[in-house]
Amino acid sequence: MLINHLQLRQLFKNFWEKKKHQNIPPISLIPQNDPTTLFTGSGMQQLVPYLLGEAHPLGKRLYNIQPCLRSQDIDEVGDNRHTTFFEMMGNWSLGEYFKKEQLAWFWKFLTKELGFKPQKLYVTVFAGDKRNNLPPDNESTEIWKSLGVKENHIFKYGPEKNWWSRAGIPDNMPTNEPGGPDSEVFYEFTNVLHNKKFGEKCHPNCDCGRFMEIGNSVFMQYKKTANGAFVELPNKNVDFGGGLERILAALNDNPDVFTTDIYLPIIKALEKVSLKKYQEEKDKQKMRVIADHLKAAVFLIKTGVFPANKERGYFLRRLLRRISVKMLKLKGNTVKASDLLPAVEAIIEIYNNIYFEQNDFEKIKLVIEEEINRFNKTLQQGLKILEKITKPTGKQIFDLYQSFGFPKELSEEILKEKGLKFDKKEFDNEFEKHRRLSRTASAGMFKGGLADHSSQTIKYHTANHLLHQALFDVLGNSIRQEGSHITGERLRFDFYSPIKPTLDLIKKAEAIVNEKIKLNLPVHFKILPKDEAYKIGAKSFFREKYPDMVKVYFIGNYSKEFCGGPHVTSTKEIGKIDIFKFEKIGANLYRIYAK
Ligand code: ALA
Repeated sequence: MLINHLQLRQLFKNFWEKKKHQNIPPISLIPQNDPTTLFTGSGMQQLVPYLLGEAHPLGKRLYNIQPCLRSQDIDEVGDNRHTTFFEMMGNWSLGEYFKKEQLAWFWKFLTKELGFKPQKLYVTVFAGDKRNNLPPDNESTEIWKSLGVKENHIFKYGPEKNWWSRAGIPDNMPTNEPGGPDSEVFYEFTNVLHNKKFGEKCHPNCDCGRFMEIGNSVFMQYKKTANGAFVELPNKNVDFGGGLERILAALNDNPDVFTTDIYLPIIKALEKVSLKKYQEEKDKQKMRVIADHLKAAVFLIKTGVFPANKERGYFLRRLLRRISVKMLKLKGNTVKASDLLPAVEAIIEIYNNIYFEQNDFEKIKLVIEEEINRFNKTLQQGLKILEKITKPTGKQIFDLYQSFGFPKELSEEILKEKGLKFDKKEFDNEFEKHRRLSRTASAGMFKGGLADHSSQTIKYHTANHLLHQALFDVLGNSIRQEGSHITGERLRFDFYSPIKPTLDLIKKAEAIVNEKIKLNLPVHFKILPKDEAYKIGAKSFFREKYPDMVKVYFIGNYSKEFCGGPHVTSTKEIGKIDIFKFEKIGANLYRIYAK
């Protein structure tokens, strides 16, 4: 059945609404209160407090479609299915229904609403983890069988494949992290032949490309305790996520996500500008990288990220540089910012009225133009450096790649003209080293919400709200929270202020926080209609779109804030707060550390 992305969204919405699920608006690609994670990487990111037992303002049955960005996948892009940006379709049960309903419903959605043939679908189930005393998920196996899934379509895997937590396998989970066994559904592209390079026999988790995962039902039923043992959570939750682009590819019976209607107009725009054909193998990979990176860049700019030398801004800069270099190779001569604009227009058009409006184009265009023009200058600088090198090493060429986005092949060609060579193995080793480092860093970063839910972290979380209000008291209403990062060791609070905060004023805010702590103010939350929450002056996060009903935490009459929790019950539990560092981190941007 041919279904385009708009129809798929609608079918998903209708299906879960019929099952009495509430739609939760997607969160920003830049997660609130959470600089530990660079970008929102899954639908469940906003649900962590609720999966751990807090009440959700919209109830116990939820669904949404969440734009996600996984920066750690950047080097994988170029094949037929890896992308940095994607949309995750999700549904959740917060302690209501569990395995039986979830698997039956998802199966029905796939086979009845979308029309997938059961013989093209395979499922996987958790085989257990003896080391951590986690039993196999026989219940899910039985449910699949009862739904008519043939035994030879059910595969069992250990924790590396069939366990889900934000930190990965059970051994890697920090204390208090929720996780559980999962059950995935795969689509088989029968026209893709198995490649023995990936193993003697093909199976759903084989990397040869014959199978593609199209949905993952996580049964969030455990929490890791301080001594490493797993205990059952108060609620047994379902956390489902399925990649919208992959489901579309499976519906097309073509494993190439770039040929679905959510990419094709971008590819077409690139073909037109470059006068090259996507079907040509040598150009395909380049067009895929450009299409993915440009889409990610357009979404980031829309979210408010600007190219910079640090963190998110740096990721955006890297995307745009990689686009320029690929475009250069694709076209074979100079790259102008204007070459990319038809593809930008195509992206906005695809998501028009979902995430973009037509007038977003002008703003996005300016940012891209400025960055590409700047990069063209850098490219010239890189060329000059390369000119001067007489005995090139792999490390030097890697450094050029790192700082100027200079691709290995480009350096190779230039050097070749002068009869010079470099050690490619050394380059590859440096590349691998860097990749490992950045993967480790982003794995550490891929933690939503608070760093953990230890009692000290929760105390700092409440102190954070007090500090937020105290800064308003001393600096006025024009300040704005930019983010926070809270661990068991300290809290970090970032804010924007057009007025320069003197150290005296910061000390004043600290004194206010400590005075409020001493008053032992009670902490409680209320679930309110969003408009009412704004009306009573509850502080919200400016980047976020909130659902109609929101949860607001009150600290006495002093502070009101949109927040999922958790918090202490009264302020005396916090003890005393000491601001030990205060610094400027950007134009009108400041950072406070306290413990
Ligand atoms: N949270 C699960 C995932 O990202 C559904 O796969």
